[in-house]
Amino acid sequence: MRVLVTGGAGYIGSHTCVELLNAGHEVVAFDNFYNSSPKAIERVEQITGKKITFYEADMMDMAAMNRIFDEQQIDAVIHFAGLKAVGESVKKPLMYYKNNLEGTLTLCEAMQNHGVKRIIFSSSATVYGEPAFLPITEDCPKGVAASPYGATKMMQEEMLTDFHTADPEWNVILLRYFNPIGAHPSGLIGEDPEGIPNNLVPYISQVAVGKLPELGIFGNDYPTPDGTNIRDYIHVVDLARGHVLALKKLAEEPDVRIYNLGTGQGYSVLDVFHAYEKAVGHELPYSFKPRRAGDVVSCYADPTKAEKELGFKAEFGIAEMCRDAWNWQSKNPNGYRD
Ligand code: NAD
Ligand code: UD1
Repeated sequence: MRVLVTGGAGYIGSHTCVELLNAGHEVVAFDNFYNSSPKAIERVEQITGKKITFYEADMMDMAAMNRIFDEQQIDAVIHFAGLKAVGESVKKPLMYYKNNLEGTLTLCEAMQNHGVKRIIFSSSATVYGEPAFLPITEDCPKGVAASPYGATKMMQEEMLTDFHTADPEWNVILLRYFNPIGAHPSGLIGEDPEGIPNNLVPYISQVAVGKLPELGIFGNDYPTPDGTNIRDYIHVVDLARGHVLALKKLAEEPDVRIYNLGTGQGYSVLDVFHAYEKAVGHELPYSFKPRRAGDVVSCYADPTKAEKELGFKAEFGIAEMCRDAWNWQSKNPNGYRD
């Protein structure tokens, strides 16, 4: 298939481009580089030995979106482009609602103008809020959005669902990611956050490389075995493979299908921290800090539906996730900025 990857230079987008190219798909991608670097695209081409047809474009730019669909015969869209920093979204809700919602509407309008109605959307386990039960199945009721970022994910899910209701030819897959971490085993692409990282593994990586003094663990008095939060961390290469499998599903009768992409295994913050220490080969500094507002106690997937319907099963465990995160960070201490 010829697939349009939005946000293709980003963390998950770049890893998905690799898996798509390796699986024999043609990749057209665009990004405005708001949170990414053109180097990611070059590195994807280096890893795969294949070319991406790339556009520097903003998804809110209707003319640019129409131009891509005019110039390329797109079979399906994988939609990663968006802003994703939870804390920033609380401070700048207008920017988040505008970019994520207006951007998705503009993209979808261009798709509709060109008769392209197959889309895989990057959603998040954040839509479950404080989960009603564990492990989380796709039937778990959606929770209350903890941030404007979370609200945009819920709204985008609803928009795409409404498109299918109004026009059953729209074929929509909503992938709810748990916590993607790690990097491509080559060490050529990985996560490259701007400034001080908000997320756990990028933060530990910067402690390990000596850029930050210690990890602050947000809360050790949660009702979990070691008192720290539990999450379902998934290797980004496994997550990327999930998108290639989801593409196959788009060949079936149009519908709105929802899948959790996780491993089904929960790890605490301390578990991840110690696994990372093992990958580095020595102890790292940390201290306990107060709880972070908005954190849920535990969040892990029941991945059965994705396994049954997509044939998806995560292959990598926490040791490989930390090994590859460290491999990327130690080879690229400044990320793509060199
Ligand atoms: P990322 O920031 O690395 O990638 C997103 C890309 O979109 C960036 O390259 C950015 O420059 C681009 N972008 C943003 N706004 C754009 C616009 N208006 N026009 C064109 N490009 C634009 O983030 P990621 O971690 O790769 O996440 C990809 C998607 O997955 C996002 O939608 C995110 O919300 C979702 N998601 C991520 C996680 C996670 O933990 N990383 C979890 C759940 C869901
Ligand atoms: C966060 C977002 C979530 C989003 C997801 C992917 C919040 C509240 N949630 O998930 O909406 O979908 O990222 O982008 O931001 N931790 C520390 N110290 C740190 C950083 C994190 O102890 O310096 C802990 C957190 O308290 C949490 C765990 O590590 O228990 C994972 O945190 P993080 O990587 O930010 O992911 P989530 O909060 O699960």
